[in-house]
Amino acid sequence: MIEKGTKIEEPKGRLGVLLVGMGAVSTTFIAGVEAIKNDLAKPIGSLTQMGRIRLGKRTEKRTPLVKDFVPLAKLSDLVFGGWDIFESNGYEAARTAGVLSETDLAKLKPSLEAIRPWSAAFDKNFVRNLDGKNVKKGATKMDLVDQISEDIRKFKEKNGLSRCVMVWCGSTEVYFKAEKVHETLRNFEEGLKTNHSAIAPSMLYAYAALREGIPFANGAPNLTVDIPALQELAHEKKVPLSGKDFKTGQTLMKTIIAPGLKARYLGLSGWFSSNILGNRDGEVLDDPDSFKTKEESKLSVLETLLQPELYPDLYSNFYHKVRIHYYPPRGDNKEGWDNIDLFGWMGYPMQLKIDFLCRDSILAAPLVLDLVLFMDLAQRAHMKGTQEWLSFYYKSPMTAPNLYPEHNLFIQEMKLKNTLRYMMGEDQITHLGLEYYD
Ligand SMILES: NC(=O)c1ccc[n+]([C@@H]2O[C@H](COP(=O)([O-])OP(=O)(O)OC[C@H]3O[C@@H](n4cnc5c(N)ncnc54)[C@H](O)[C@@H]3O)[C@@H](O)[C@H]2O)c1
Repeated sequence: MIEKGTKIEEPKGRLGVLLVGMGAVSTTFIAGVEAIKNDLAKPIGSLTQMGRIRLGKRTEKRTPLVKDFVPLAKLSDLVFGGWDIFESNGYEAARTAGVLSETDLAKLKPSLEAIRPWSAAFDKNFVRNLDGKNVKKGATKMDLVDQISEDIRKFKEKNGLSRCVMVWCGSTEVYFKAEKVHETLRNFEEGLKTNHSAIAPSMLYAYAALREGIPFANGAPNLTVDIPALQELAHEKKVPLSGKDFKTGQTLMKTIIAPGLKARYLGLSGWFSSNILGNRDGEVLDDPDSFKTKEESKLSVLETLLQPELYPDLYSNFYHKVRIHYYPPRGDNKEGWDNIDLFGWMGYPMQLKIDFLCRDSILAAPLVLDLVLFMDLAQRAHMKGTQEWLSFYYKSPMTAPNLYPEHNLFIQEMKLKNTLRYMMGEDQITHLGLEYYD
């Protein structure tokens, strides 16, 4: 554990942002950062850029911007690079994703066009609904890892970067459970050399990043770094990791609403969540095995949050169902419906309906920015392994073994801000406040 007021290295030099997958989320993120840098947009949705943090007593009126409080990299120091199975440059990929308007993209064309994805480490067994030609070849999975490392080294050299952060913004891989090859670093490295079938492409990128001392954040629900072998490597190399699955749309709403119902001790008999979306992510999730990975991530939220074992009268029997339907006409503009059947005093039933007409990548892009900046901060603060304080950003937060994740968005926010206060040697805010009445 780091000490309160730990020494944090200054963010000197340029920071490379390595994005695995140049799809809707990545291109919307890059376009947004470029727009902000050119005063064409405000960083809406980003805690690091727009958020403030209260310090000390309420009477002290100290509420600096987060970015002025902790030493974060500047947006002007970010340099983007990444991989995809499609050769399209950043501008073409953003047009395919169909998130941003042609007018907005035209203004950002030169910087987006300059981003040309490196060939990907890809295996169709893990993402069945996609086919692309921009794919690496290698005799073993270790060869592919070495090629990824080479891409990173060249990128660092060419752009004179002092540090990098990697974020998985690639497609959701099929569901599978950790096995022996994932248990220890030794088994894992042996598996890389012998082409073990249970080592997914996302694990190759993560392994390459950690080996190079680069923090890794997992934006999809894939197993990826959630295995002892890569935890071991992160500790050995003293590198932070975090994951998994960006908390946007429906799950964001779930972790806002459910804590409210629980705070009032209102019971729940059912929560039905249905989605329609028509982007490439939706197409990938149309494969039942990729959907299973997403479903696991989405389902665990309510069970953990409502603690039915502690509140059997309120939450032991609720029916929770999550569905995602691929519906091309909607593109990236997802519609998430929630029907919540709840009950109150004397068991009387009530219903709550939420129809969230959201934009998936518009919600995800600021999370990528915050994660890049905070993962880099964690690295410079010498924090290693799972960064649970970044649970705020994830649907399925990684935790220490045998610890249940904290899903409540407001507790996650408090945890994040208290971690920043602790890092900077400030007092924790407990919200006790009795002293104001002495
Ligand atoms: N947008 C959101 O709100 C949100 C929320 C949570 C999680 N996610 C996850 O983030 C990821 C990205 O979402 P998106 O909407 O940008 O999807 P997308 O389909 O637009 O982009 C993903 C890209 O990854 C590429 N890819 C797949 N496997 C790869 C590999 N092995 N190496 C390199 N590239 C690879 C694909 O070709 C594709 O271009 C998905 O896994 C999605 O489930 C998104």
